[in-house]
Amino acid sequence: MADAVPVDLSFARRLPKIELHAHLTGSISRACLHDIWEARRQQDPQLQLDDPLVAIPPDKVDYDVQTFFPLFSSYIYKLCDDLPSIALSTARVLEDFQADGVVYVELRTTPRAIPSRGITKKVYVKTILDALREHNDQNTNTMRAFLILSIDRRNTAAQAQEVVDLALEYRSEGVVGVDLCGNPAKGDVGLYTDAFTRVKAAGLKITLHFAETAESGTDDELNTLLSWQPDRLGHVIHVNSSFQEHIKRENIGVELCMSCNVHAKLTTGTFSDHHFGFWRHTSVPVALCTDDVGVFCSPLSQEYYLAAAHFALDRIQLTKLAQRPIASVFTGASERTRLENMFKHWSD
Ligand code: IMP
Ligand code: ZN
Repeated sequence: MADAVPVDLSFARRLPKIELHAHLTGSISRACLHDIWEARRQQDPQLQLDDPLVAIPPDKVDYDVQTFFPLFSSYIYKLCDDLPSIALSTARVLEDFQADGVVYVELRTTPRAIPSRGITKKVYVKTILDALREHNDQNTNTMRAFLILSIDRRNTAAQAQEVVDLALEYRSEGVVGVDLCGNPAKGDVGLYTDAFTRVKAAGLKITLHFAETAESGTDDELNTLLSWQPDRLGHVIHVNSSFQEHIKRENIGVELCMSCNVHAKLTTGTFSDHHFGFWRHTSVPVALCTDDVGVFCSPLSQEYYLAAAHFALDRIQLTKLAQRPIASVFTGASERTRLENMFKHWSD
C-alpha cells in the first residue's frame, strides 16, 4: 500500500510538482553562476567580480532581508549582465526544475535594462521567452514553462506601467501574469494601483508578495493589495484572521515558501511552526514553492519532503497536496487538463 510507505526524498523527486513562485535570477544555481563567471573571465581576464563560489559560499543559506536583496544588486546582476549569461542561466534554471520532477513552472522575473550592453527591458524579456520556448518545444521535456513579469517595489508608477506594457505585448508568447516583488521595507504600493488595474482589465493574472514582513503587513498596505483583486498571494505571513477570512472567502491561491521563510527568519520557529500548517486545512489552492532555490538551496522536491516530514503527511496526502496548485495556475483550461491527466495516470 502506497500510503504505508513513508515519504522519502526520492519519492518527493518522482512526484509530479507544480512551481508557481520562483524568481528567475534567484533560481540560478551556484554551479551555473560559477560557469558564467568562468566564461566571463575568459573573455575579460580583468573581470572585477569574485568567483560566485566565494561570493555566495556553497553552504550558506541564512540570507535575511538585510543581506538577501543586496546579493542581487551588488553581485548576481553584475555577473549576469549580458545576453549569453541571461540565456544560459534561464536554460539552466529550466533544466534544474525539470530534473527535479517539476511538470509545470511559472517563472517570474523583473524586466531589467542593461544600457552598457545595449539591452533594453524588451530585449531582456524576449531573451527569456526564447529560452522558455526552446524548452517547451523539446518533446522530451515533460515540464511546461511560462513567465510572470515582476514590478519591483522600488519602481516608479511609470516603470510599473512599462512592465504592464511588456506583459501585454508578450502575452501571446508565454507571459501569463504580473507580480509585485522586491524589498518589503521599500516603497509605497499605492503607486501601482493604476498599473494593476490595467493588468486586471486586460485579463492577465495577478500575484503579489503579501505580508512578507510585519512592515509590509500593515492593514493599509494589505487593503490596497487586495483591492487589486489578486489571483494568488506569495508568503502570506503577517496576516490577521480578518485577512485570512478574506483570502478564504475569495479562494485566493497561496504560494508558500517554507525554506526561504525559515532560513531568512521571516517566520519564527522552525518548519513545523510554518503557516503551511494553517493553510493546508483550508480549501484555498495551496502551492509549496521555492522562491529562490539558487539562494536557499532547497529544490521543490525538498519542500515537499519537508512538508511531509514536519506535518506527518503520507504518500497519498503528499500526492494530493501536489495537485492543489492546479486550481490556481495562470494558464487556463488546457494546462489544467494536462496536469489533471498527468496526476490521473501517475503511479509511483
Ligand atoms: P529577478 O526578478 O529574476 O531578477 O529575480 C530576483 C529578484 O526577485 C530580486 O532582486 C528581488 O527583487 C525579487 N525577489 C526574490 N525573492 C524575493 C522575495 O522573497 N521577496 C521579494 N522579492 C524577491
Ligand atoms: Zn518571492
